Amino acid sequence: MEETKRMLLVLTLFLWFMSFLNAFKLDVSQFPPSFLFGTATSSYQVEGAFLEGNKSLSNWDVFTHLGGKIKDGSNGDVSADHYHNYIEDIELMHSLGVNSYRFSISWSRVLPRGQFGEINSMGIQFYNNLINNLVARGIQPFVTLSHYDIPQELEDRYGAWLTDEIQKDFGHFAEVCFKAFGDRVKYWSTLNEPNIMVRSSYQVGEYPPGLHTDPFGAAHNMILAHATAVNIYKKKYQVKQGGSIGIVISMSWFEPLRNIPEDYIATQLTLAFEIGWFLDPLFYGDYPIQMRETLQSKLPKFSSKDKKKLEHKIDFIGINHYTSFYVSDCHVLLNKSAENEGVCMGGEREGLPIGTPTAMPNYYVVPHGLGETVLFIMNRYNNTPMFITENGFAQQGDNDVSTEELLNDIDRIEYFQSYLTSLMHAIRRGADASKLTLEE
Ligand SMILES: *[C@@H]1O[C@H](CO)[C@@H](O)[C@H](O)[C@H]1NC(C)=O
Ligand SMILES: *[C@@H]1O[C@H](CO)[C@@H](O)[C@H](O)[C@H]1NC(C)=O
Repeated sequence: MEETKRMLLVLTLFLWFMSFLNAFKLDVSQFPPSFLFGTATSSYQVEGAFLEGNKSLSNWDVFTHLGGKIKDGSNGDVSADHYHNYIEDIELMHSLGVNSYRFSISWSRVLPRGQFGEINSMGIQFYNNLINNLVARGIQPFVTLSHYDIPQELEDRYGAWLTDEIQKDFGHFAEVCFKAFGDRVKYWSTLNEPNIMVRSSYQVGEYPPGLHTDPFGAAHNMILAHATAVNIYKKKYQVKQGGSIGIVISMSWFEPLRNIPEDYIATQLTLAFEIGWFLDPLFYGDYPIQMRETLQSKLPKFSSKDKKKLEHKIDFIGINHYTSFYVSDCHVLLNKSAENEGVCMGGEREGLPIGTPTAMPNYYVVPHGLGETVLFIMNRYNNTPMFITENGFAQQGDNDVSTEELLNDIDRIEYFQSYLTSLMHAIRRGADASKLTLEE
């Protein structure tokens, strides 16, 4: 079983390689010389070794073991076993020709009990080994502090992101990482896709802790926890270590379904709820007006102390982009509520899909959506430098497709060619986008 999973990882990396070669033939020389091409993972997704090296249980370890939470009953106990195979994995990445690797640090490996216990020297050792081997291969480490996972103890003690205690804990974790790894890590992202995580964890209930409660309160604590880490980096580490710090947000692109004012307004509302929710506070100190008007008292307020915390600005915005949607006003259909905001999203207009469908429902190939997203961020946030931290094609699950079909990877190659071309056009129009990470 483990061998099969390793083989699949190797195969996936090989497929990336093929895509790279083909995409490169077309475009690579036209990107700025500083442009980083990379691959990306998260700790729970690849590390395995969930009980080794004095690591504690994370919220994901506990959640996947509850039963009934994961469709096929699988978990990340072993996963791609990156913890034991990182050297081989780095060799594979090197053979792809990438010059950056985005990964996340398992909080429960470095600080098994958060602020309530000691630093785990074996956790520090693992990431030192990983980082040193990457640097030796000329691959820039691009490090996410928390990619959804958190020590279970913090969940049990105070409800993790639901209380403001998390700000101090996250700041402590961030500082331990800056101190231990910041001499070699030049790119830090505080959180991955908090806009997806809070809804999945605290509204839909599909991610741990699986609740239907208060996504807006949790988001508020995430924003301020992020700001805590940014302040520590800016005040104590940035000058000495010379790196940069940002955040990664999930950003689909949205277009009005019909050429009517109601759908344009619905599209603006969606962009506010999806993107402005996290980025407006970081740049302008408050939530977008559309959110404040729609949610009223359900939306927390930033105190003057909070606003002071938000004064240190991030150095870059990480964009995870895969697909685009049509947006329409559907107040009449659904009634206005905080959950749907009176907005409907879909992938079809008069029976025609917005782009070529992929194996994943509601994921269409819409290349111009990437360029539009980048230009939107450029205009709304003063052309802050951007990294495309994730982008990729959804294909049939490996179990459903023959090896020949997997190797004949035309659809993925076309996806990357067309998205890269769209990105290049946005860069020519002035966008400061300097990195592409491919993630499956
Ligand atoms: C691992 O944890 C055990 C039990 O807490 C402790 O005795 C041991 O010193 C730890 N090992 C290392 C290398 O930190
Ligand atoms: C919307 O609200 C009206 C009036 O309160 C109600 O009759 C109708 O069933 C609601 N529609 C939906 C889809 O919930």
